[in-house]
Amino acid sequence: MTLSSLDQTNKRVLMFGGKGGVGKTTTSAATALHYALAGRRTLIISSDLTPSLSDIFETQIGPTERSVSGVENLDALEIDPDEVMRRWKARFGAQVYQAASALVDLPYDEIVDYVAMAPGIQEEFMLDYILEHIRDGHYDLIVWDTAPAGDTLRLLGLPQRFIEHLRVAPRVYLEVQDTFKLSQTPFLEIIESWKELAQQTTDFFSDPANVEFIMVTIPEALGVYQSGRVIADLEKHGLDVHYLIVNDVIVAPDCGFHQQRMDMQRPYIQMLDDEHGDRMTLIKLPLLPYEVKGVERLKEVEGILFGSGGSS
Ligand SMILES: Nc1ncnc2c1ncn2[C@@H]1O[C@H](COP(=O)(O)OP(=O)(O)OP(=O)(O)O)[C@@H](O)[C@H]1O
Ligand SMILES: [Mg+2]
Repeated sequence: MTLSSLDQTNKRVLMFGGKGGVGKTTTSAATALHYALAGRRTLIISSDLTPSLSDIFETQIGPTERSVSGVENLDALEIDPDEVMRRWKARFGAQVYQAASALVDLPYDEIVDYVAMAPGIQEEFMLDYILEHIRDGHYDLIVWDTAPAGDTLRLLGLPQRFIEHLRVAPRVYLEVQDTFKLSQTPFLEIIESWKELAQQTTDFFSDPANVEFIMVTIPEALGVYQSGRVIADLEKHGLDVHYLIVNDVIVAPDCGFHQQRMDMQRPYIQMLDDEHGDRMTLIKLPLLPYEVKGVERLKEVEGILFGSGGSS
């Protein structure tokens, strides 16, 4: 089976997740290439703190979107938390300072830095930052190479937690306002606008019409157990997983060593199939004899994943 049924959907964000080292970057890069070659304006984003898009595309990628050399319609971006924070400050810093300086007499940077540390703000803004690239109309599709599993789940839960966090803020503010006899309420307006922003982000990322989550795993005990847990957690967040890529599958062993590994993999592939096969498309990606680096190699992986070439 292949990823080709994704072609018929009009998802705006394809998230690739899974534990460390299973092939998230490889499969997300091959998928981004697939859609760029098909003419969709595609942006691949990595939110991993040690991203490897530069290595796989053999192009220097940075915290602002850059085109991938030699591929039309494909840009890439490695998210840098400092850059996300810089944008947050540029967008909200003045507002925050104006509101808070009525209460405390502190320098601009101290106030803004302090508020920026509130739980969830950074993650919420990162999601919003990703969303911005869709909203501003520059891209038809974002392929998101996420950081290893747990972080992504936490991230998806954060806008909601952020909203809950903000819920108490107006009450606190109103008490303070009374004490300080403040007449203006810009702070309440900021809180309201943040709540709205966080709600929009939550709505977008929890809507299956916008987002497809593609799970990547390997046919080994840790891969099988962890993917089961992550899939269950995602479902709790309202994101059903429809695609499971099983990577590093040995298909044509030509020595005892590989035969042994193939025998080791077989029951795990069976387990994945038994557990998820009825509601997910399982795509087997063979262990290749070369490292997947550069556009030509990625095209080979793309061919396998989408069924337009190679073996399946
Ligand atoms: N099917 C495959 N055959 C051969 N090599 C592969 C295959 N899939 C991935 N690799 C290689 O395995 C390594 C890890 O893959 P990749 O970087 O895509 O994993 P990842 O899940 O993004 O890792 P991390 O969690 O560290 O970001 C890379 O060197 C890649 O070239
Ligand atoms: Mg990676």
